[in-house]
Amino acid sequence: MLNMALFISGSGSNLQAIIDNIHETNVPAEIRFILSDNKNAKGIERGKKHKIDTHVIEKTMSMDYNRDKIIKLLDEYKIDLIVLAGFLSILDEKIIKLYGKKIINIHPSLIPKYCGRGFYGEKVHKAVIENKEKTTGATVHFVDEGIDTGPIIRQKVCNVYEDDTVETVKNRVLKIEHEILVDVIKEFCEGE
Ligand code: GAR
Repeated sequence: MLNMALFISGSGSNLQAIIDNIHETNVPAEIRFILSDNKNAKGIERGKKHKIDTHVIEKTMSMDYNRDKIIKLLDEYKIDLIVLAGFLSILDEKIIKLYGKKIINIHPSLIPKYCGRGFYGEKVHKAVIENKEKTTGATVHFVDEGIDTGPIIRQKVCNVYEDDTVETVKNRVLKIEHEILVDVIKEFCEGE
């Protein structure tokens, strides 16, 4: 059984896709806990509905305190894979060093385009539209010490149309995110 921790900040639609396609099915992986850096994240409710333990880190606490709290949780729950599923905080380097290639992130663009500091969530889609891109997509990658710089595991492309809005691009990309993130986790379960 692959023990997963899911880190979120907002709506949690990626979390929901993982619950529906992995946690609640016979794929040998379980979401052991959800960690949010936002106590009002809708994703927390989604987790509670499925009786998954949820934990919150407060941005008012020191970075060292939060880092140690996360490390303790990862250890207690015997986590094999950390999934950053719409987590907008930067993960502490110590955690990255400890967990190495056991941390993956979903990003709503075709890395190396529209990634790095300042490119997250809807900001990515806004830039894609402003630059009149004809295509965009999503990327699953390993997390390293940089921002969105770790080795790419999977990408999928979609079209951008002239009459697209941030909302329509966001929804099209989210569909791809859910698909490739679930696929990559299944591959982890198969030891790939
Ligand atoms: C997703 O689009 C995810 O790719 C993005 O935040 C959104 C969260 O949606 N993550 C980043 O931008 C990280 N750099 P969700 O809460 O509905 O899963």
